[in-house]
Amino acid sequence: MGDYVIAIDQGTTSSRAIIFDKAGSIISTGQLEHEQIFPQAGWVEHDPKQIWDNVREVIGQALSKANLTRHDIATVGITNQRETAVVWDKNTGEAVYNAIVWQDTRTQPIVDRLAADGGVERFKQKVGLPLATYFSGTKIVWILENVEGAREKAEAGDLLFGTTDSWVLWNLTGGIDGGVHVTDVTNASRTMFMDLETLDWDDEILAAFNVPKSMLPTIKSSSEVYGTVGQNSLLREVPVAGILGDQQAATFGQAAFDQGEAKNTYGTGNFLIFNTGTEIIHSKNGLLTTVGYKLGNAPVHYALEGSIAVTGSLVQWLRDNLGMIGSAEEIETLAASVDDNGGAYFVPAFSGLFAPYWRADARGALVGLTRFVNKGHIARAALEAIAFQTREVLDAVNADSGVPLTELKVDGGATANNLLLQFQADILNVPVVRPVVAETTALGAAYAAGLAVGFWNGLDDLRANWQEDARWEPNMDSAERDRLLRNWKKAVTKTLDWVD
Ligand code: G3P
Repeated sequence: MGDYVIAIDQGTTSSRAIIFDKAGSIISTGQLEHEQIFPQAGWVEHDPKQIWDNVREVIGQALSKANLTRHDIATVGITNQRETAVVWDKNTGEAVYNAIVWQDTRTQPIVDRLAADGGVERFKQKVGLPLATYFSGTKIVWILENVEGAREKAEAGDLLFGTTDSWVLWNLTGGIDGGVHVTDVTNASRTMFMDLETLDWDDEILAAFNVPKSMLPTIKSSSEVYGTVGQNSLLREVPVAGILGDQQAATFGQAAFDQGEAKNTYGTGNFLIFNTGTEIIHSKNGLLTTVGYKLGNAPVHYALEGSIAVTGSLVQWLRDNLGMIGSAEEIETLAASVDDNGGAYFVPAFSGLFAPYWRADARGALVGLTRFVNKGHIARAALEAIAFQTREVLDAVNADSGVPLTELKVDGGATANNLLLQFQADILNVPVVRPVVAETTALGAAYAAGLAVGFWNGLDDLRANWQEDARWEPNMDSAERDRLLRNWKKAVTKTLDWVD
């Protein structure tokens, strides 16, 4: 068996391949961004072909940087942006439409149509999710209803659907030459179609959405051999043995395996996942119920999730749409040029508001402006928005679980930002802790694959790999914290009822 595991992280803004050793340390990384396509306000698409081409290329980058070949690689794990829907023709291997990204809100009319009979919580008891544009289900419906010929082809059994894990796996295992059409329980739990108890597609919901079951991948555990890499890749014949949606992968990479453990990832959006063990807990406070992980035949672990649509992508927006900064990292220097937010609050409800509000009609707002406010204050308000939103989902987690979290494990790109994490600790009033390997998403996928092939022996091996790198202690008096939170909540009310 090879001495390394490779993880493919097919994310919202880029695809990466990261090679890990047994200690969970990074040996090398390949990374390529893909185009963000915005055909209309509220629409967000990716080109599935570009994604697959990039995945192939980043695998090559990672191997060559470390001077390794497929013989050094024990197994491949896949992790992915979740919910983003790809529909492709199994005979040609070509997507019938661009991937519709999780942030895309075009399917609101489909959501409304389905919610007309039973409200947005119509399927929540079974699938743990409210009806919302976020999840894959309505995106598939949109493609079937709007792409010429798609419905007929789907009924004839010629079209396949997948989140990007399935798209990558199918291509990686040979595509039209025998590609494996599989997803794992965590990704399946984001479609609206999987029953959380049976871990199988639900016929009644599929009928309500009018989606043919033949399009859907087979649901497998997060850690088992799904197939081997096809002849068209540098990794040919290496087993692919782990799939976890990226937020669940980060939770796994943080070694939050047990009930009561949690992590918060700072990516394009922020996602706080709280492991509820083998119990399905239905939130009373706007959280999602989702699958945490399932290792082979072992019992499934569930989780509560606080999903925030826009956090890191707000920083990108300041860079790309306003040109306020030249790179994402510059936001910290700009924010540090002022002492506080100068009275400005920025609620980035660009895709409506996700947890805990679930308001599709919300749109972004920058409030509290006076002539005093400058670029520094706006940068600071943007970073503070990330922390305020996290505080609101942590409040919801604490209320649902009844046991307040005493510290928060964090990971993701923005955790390099010291100012943000200090403010985060201040506004949460609990310590914030970052591990040495902040690439927990890829690490989690590597772990899932490595466990399946015996590269690691069990969860204790993985727990032993987790090491603290840095910790931020809260240091704000409670009157100031309360004042900031009060103003934030007032700012949120200004974003509602914008879409008529
Ligand atoms: O649910 C969406 C999430 O999986 C996307 O994560 O890190 O690609 O923004 P990220």
